[in-house]
Amino acid sequence: MNNALPSPKLHLGAAYYPEHWPEERWPEDIRLMQEAGLTVVRMAEFAWSTMESSAGIFNFSWLERAIEKLAAAGIVSVLGTPTAAPPAWLVEKHPDLLAVDEDGRRVQFGNRCHYCVNSPEFHDATLQLVQAMGKYFGCNPNVIGWQIDNEYNRVCYCDRCRSLFQQFLADKYGSLDVLNQRWTTAYWSQTYSTWEQIPLPIGPHHPTLMLEFKHFITASYRKFQRLQLEALRPHLRAGVWTTHNFMGWFGGYDHYEVAADLDQASWDWYVGTGHHDYLTSGAIHDLTRGFKRRNFWVIETQPGNVNWTVKNNSLNKGEARAMAWHAIAHGADAILYWQWRSAFGGQEQYHGSLVDQSGQPRPFYEEAQTLGKQIQSVSDLLTGSSIIARVAMLNSYDSRWSIEFQRHQGDFDYVAHFNHYYRALSVNNISVDVISTDETLEGYQLVIAPALLTLNDKRVANLTNFVQRGGHLVLTIRTGMKDEYNALLPSRQPGPLAKLSGVEVEDYYALDELVPIEGNLLKGASKQWAERLKLLDQQLAIPVSRYGKSNGWLDGQVAMAAHPYGRGMVYTVGVYLNEEAQQTFVDHVLQTAGVRGMKSPEGVEVSTRVDPAGRAIYIVINHTAAERNLSLVWPALEHLTGQTVQNELILMPYGIAILTRIEQAP
Ligand code: GLA
Ligand code: ZN
Repeated sequence: MNNALPSPKLHLGAAYYPEHWPEERWPEDIRLMQEAGLTVVRMAEFAWSTMESSAGIFNFSWLERAIEKLAAAGIVSVLGTPTAAPPAWLVEKHPDLLAVDEDGRRVQFGNRCHYCVNSPEFHDATLQLVQAMGKYFGCNPNVIGWQIDNEYNRVCYCDRCRSLFQQFLADKYGSLDVLNQRWTTAYWSQTYSTWEQIPLPIGPHHPTLMLEFKHFITASYRKFQRLQLEALRPHLRAGVWTTHNFMGWFGGYDHYEVAADLDQASWDWYVGTGHHDYLTSGAIHDLTRGFKRRNFWVIETQPGNVNWTVKNNSLNKGEARAMAWHAIAHGADAILYWQWRSAFGGQEQYHGSLVDQSGQPRPFYEEAQTLGKQIQSVSDLLTGSSIIARVAMLNSYDSRWSIEFQRHQGDFDYVAHFNHYYRALSVNNISVDVISTDETLEGYQLVIAPALLTLNDKRVANLTNFVQRGGHLVLTIRTGMKDEYNALLPSRQPGPLAKLSGVEVEDYYALDELVPIEGNLLKGASKQWAERLKLLDQQLAIPVSRYGKSNGWLDGQVAMAAHPYGRGMVYTVGVYLNEEAQQTFVDHVLQTAGVRGMKSPEGVEVSTRVDPAGRAIYIVINHTAAERNLSLVWPALEHLTGQTVQNELILMPYGIAILTRIEQAP
């Protein structure tokens, strides 16, 4: 075996499936990878049947040879545990490891993620395989990390899951009296007298039951992942990390909990149909960075097109490269294309790849190659740098789920509403941390908590401390409505945050029409939702805007308010503003919070990574297919070309520049 490769910390790579190809082909693949500037591959995440052809008969030598050959070309490996693809022989032996869907049907073998995450036989087989993989590859100097499973997403409704769910509730509540009381089960005669009576929620159901089922799914995946981590970790040499490929805003489970046991977060970034919108995709990178509060990997992304939407259009030439830099600008330390080469068979024959079915590079290969060269040229510069944000946006799965169970206004979407704020920050090129609502808020000047519906003591204490110390806080519609059991709080919105906000919500209205908003700061309209605010702190609370004429209940009432509290300020936004008014409001809040952004031409993003010495590295990206100019107020060194730039930076279509400031003698 080789010694550990000196690998750049910033990687370009691809998902590679050597098991699809004869071994004689591998050297050619590896040569092409090397020429494209790939420095990492991810392998084996679906290779169960090749690694274990029947119970306990392991064959890892082919994978070892692949790792070895790749390493000789300077390419390191990340291995996936293949548990998303339990093989036919295992399913045949234990048919009930197949999940059951919502309609009570067993999921068929032949796709993937067909397992019941709680099946003991599946756990057992997983343990055997993962231990064996760990023993075999854990000390391989060319394996730098491990991905556990692949895109957790299946929800199982089998009888076993049902009784485990009942057990989960029994452990949590201790007694049925407590559960009945917390859930208000007297409503519609839902009182439970045994744990066994509690169903799994199929379709719309009791909101607390639905919320607890989400908690149960979270706990199930966490347990399954832990089983794998515990099987693997004792065998890993120092410095080897574990990850999972999350799916951005996917809402199937609480990502903070599932990520807690991993070393690093990764995600799979697919645009699907259409084109990428950097003003909102930045939020997903920031979200993923927030799972572990450190840099992350884009461990899959599309080389051109996908195969699973209705219209699998290709990204424009240059667009994917701009996307890669956008990810890096938000804290990604690696970009891996899915996949290297189109397989002859299987479900994904039409998906984008770097090499086509004939084994020749596709036109996209060249774009990856350009990216590979660029990444290698600035890898040293960017290694160890991170994002430092003064603005945080709080994400709460409980709040989101609760709203999704009972939207009240069918168009209201938690993520879209979140993006409505993110976009207005992003236009100002502001670094944002997207973090769990339960994090402490030290170091931030501004915190935005979109639709923070669910409150608990910890959240209230964190937000109160933050504002007390001088932080600026934005509370929005649908804040402070529920407790952790998805029950209405016994107070008006925003519940225990009313002291901070200086206002309460007298009533909330789902809207079927726009409602006009008027004020000195902004004029506009609210869509979907309106809350009628009442000033509680008559002395200090200031109305920022009022409703114009609409349904009578809202006419002339307060729509938005500001309230100084401690050394800070709290804004309550009772409306879902149109874009222009939203921008005016967010710009105003940034100004009062003392957060300075940077204006750039439309479609041009300027992001900052800060190196360990505190030096800012600016990543400038033209996300459009037209040339753009950016005015510079200081001379800079552009690191991709090595040239000095003064006054004006010219960006080609989808052009990139990586700048550091040239300090001038005073
Ligand atoms: C997901 C999976 C990959 C592949 C891609 C295709 O992200 O993790 O295995 O199927 O989708 O877009
Ligand atoms: Zn199950």
